[in-house]
Amino acid sequence: MAGDSAVSSAAPRLEGKVALITGGAQGIGECIARVFTKHGAKVIIADIQDDLAQSVCQDLGPELATFVHCDVANESDIENAINTTIAKHGKLDIMINNAAVADEAKTSILDNKKSEFERVISVNLTGVFLGTKHAARVMIPAQKGSIITIGSVCSSVGGVASHAYTSSKHATVGLTRNVAAELGKFGIRVNCISPYFIVTPLWMDFFKMDKEAASGLYTNLKGVSLELEDVAEAAIYLASDESKYVSGHNLALDGGFTAINPAFGLFARPV
Ligand SMILES: NC(=O)c1ccc[n+]([C@@H]2O[C@H](COP(=O)([O-])OP(=O)(O)OC[C@H]3O[C@@H](n4cnc5c(N)ncnc54)[C@H](O)[C@@H]3O)[C@@H](O)[C@H]2O)c1
Repeated sequence: MAGDSAVSSAAPRLEGKVALITGGAQGIGECIARVFTKHGAKVIIADIQDDLAQSVCQDLGPELATFVHCDVANESDIENAINTTIAKHGKLDIMINNAAVADEAKTSILDNKKSEFERVISVNLTGVFLGTKHAARVMIPAQKGSIITIGSVCSSVGGVASHAYTSSKHATVGLTRNVAAELGKFGIRVNCISPYFIVTPLWMDFFKMDKEAASGLYTNLKGVSLELEDVAEAAIYLASDESKYVSGHNLALDGGFTAINPAFGLFARPV
């Protein structure tokens, strides 16, 4: 099960903390929820897939996990998710803006529709803005908190995914930095985690690829591949007090993908 293998026997690193995770019904968000609870956190899973999210919460146990229906593009849903968290636990320590969608893979901008572009932006960017805004609303009076947005390699390079998705992910890094500038004075840290490709429903849909095909993809690091748990581990670091001086950062979890040009240079690979 997602999240099981990642947790070491070391002391829990999120003991007593409360985390709200958008898009926690499956994929990366679900794994973060599972790993966070193993590290002592209580989680609220905010998603539009009610049945799936509820079954994850049931599996984790009602004392550790709570479901709230929430479309992140809808401000009143986000407001309600944050208020539910406060009503249940009295605080919000960690906000994980994870929910996102991808549009259809189209290789010509001429085939891209405005409505599709705006749908992706409304979830991937406006959703992050709303999650950040309402998390800040309750974190400012508490004078502490950690807000983490899940970006992507598409947050810093072009050409990997669609125009809408790439635009939305670049913009979340800008938003992260801007909000970090504002909220530092309240003791609130704001960061981004940008993973490379992991086979989840989002990406199987987009790239029309299964796990086997994905295992042959470009990787710079020999003998390892990126797993859901690696994202959860990075999130634990940014959520915990271990990263108390880290803010405005975009943590690339990509084995060097966005830093290295594999096509030309001294270490270029033969094609
Ligand atoms: N999988 C990858 O390779 C990869 C790589 C880099 C970044 N990411 C990012 O990681 C995050 C999670 O992606 P994933 O691969 O786990 O995707 P996924 O499709 O498996 O899960 C996304 C979750 O978000 C939920 N969701 C979608 N729209 C929503 C909305 N409007 N309101 C609330 N919830 C909504 C879905 O129901 C689902 O549970 C996304 O931000 C994605 O862009 C994924």
